[in-house]
Amino acid sequence: MSDPVTILGIESSCDDTAAAVLRAGGEPALLSSVVSSQTDLHAAFGGVVPEIAARAHAEKLDLMVEQAVAEAGIGLRDLDVIAVTAGPGLIGGVLSGVMCAKGLAMGLGLPLLGVNHLAGHALTPRLTDGVAFPYLMLLVSGGHCQFLRVDGAEDFTRLGGTIDDAPGEAFDKVARLLGLAQPGGPSVERAAKDGDPARFALPRPLLDRPGCDMSFSGLKTAVLRLRDRLVADQGGLHAGDVADICAGFQAAMRDVLAEKSRRALAGQSDLTGFAVAGGVAANQTLRAALQEVATPLPFIAPPMALCTDNAAMIAWAGWEAYRAGHRDGMDLMARPRWPLDTASAPLLGSGRKGAKA
Ligand code: KG4
Ligand code: ZN
Repeated sequence: MSDPVTILGIESSCDDTAAAVLRAGGEPALLSSVVSSQTDLHAAFGGVVPEIAARAHAEKLDLMVEQAVAEAGIGLRDLDVIAVTAGPGLIGGVLSGVMCAKGLAMGLGLPLLGVNHLAGHALTPRLTDGVAFPYLMLLVSGGHCQFLRVDGAEDFTRLGGTIDDAPGEAFDKVARLLGLAQPGGPSVERAAKDGDPARFALPRPLLDRPGCDMSFSGLKTAVLRLRDRLVADQGGLHAGDVADICAGFQAAMRDVLAEKSRRALAGQSDLTGFAVAGGVAANQTLRAALQEVATPLPFIAPPMALCTDNAAMIAWAGWEAYRAGHRDGMDLMARPRWPLDTASAPLLGSGRKGAKA
């Protein structure tokens, strides 16, 4: 077996500043993974403000790198490779990360690798579960929603995705409409526990159309109308109404994701598993439905800390690129848009958390 390689991963494409140290080359060992969230900085604005994000990344990157290296119990001189998210994402944040990585690579004389953030998510099951190619990945977060068939570390086929909002955006919007706390996903899930999913008929967008594309903006609007109608009729919302709306919304989300997953899996007899990533994958109702759809294939849901934005996934994707012989130079560019599957038509929409790819 080859000598272990110690990789520093850096992530700053959205609203999390993250750094991680991964030892790869044999059985992978994640030595550290630290994330600093900017949620509080953007809370008052109802979405990520790019300028605030970029400045906060620039202030935090050095500190996160320092912390990741310290927690790994090594020094900067023990690193072998620097991997950084080079896109897609909010350009100011990506640029901050890329500049930080270039400085480290140049100062330490180390190879530099620019990583696609979506590849980081999509390759995570290989880090956590050693999954072999090909497998199906469903990315469901506040900024992403797509099905990817993963045939290799650089071989992705997008089978479908959202044509408007990401599911996490819809959860967050529904929470705002109902006066529940942000982030909306966990609040809606909690409220839905006491609700009746059958009381209100909410739409299941695009189920009547073939293929794996999805749409969630109509579902969001349906919740808005329902809320307004109840308020007009009753003069306000009772706790039971909120619970029933949340349960109905979550059930619609579940039905759409489950049916589209069924279609994405159909006819692909060579898959080794069905994997999910992204914050929305934390939802127990959705998770259970997706697991059922996966059967008899293994269902792979990485631990939450590696499902949401993190730098361990960037270090791992960097490792896969490094061992394939890739190297980037000081001309590495930050890319706001960077589709994984360049053969498929680009997706529409520009999610709350930045550009979709
Ligand atoms: O992956 P993530 O942490 O960040 C990015 O979007 O990149 O995902 C955050 C999203 C938020 O929209 C949040 O409301 C949603 O994931 N989320 C959930 C749950 N926990 C987080 N959605 C549904 N159910 C949950 N339990
Ligand atoms: Zn992400």
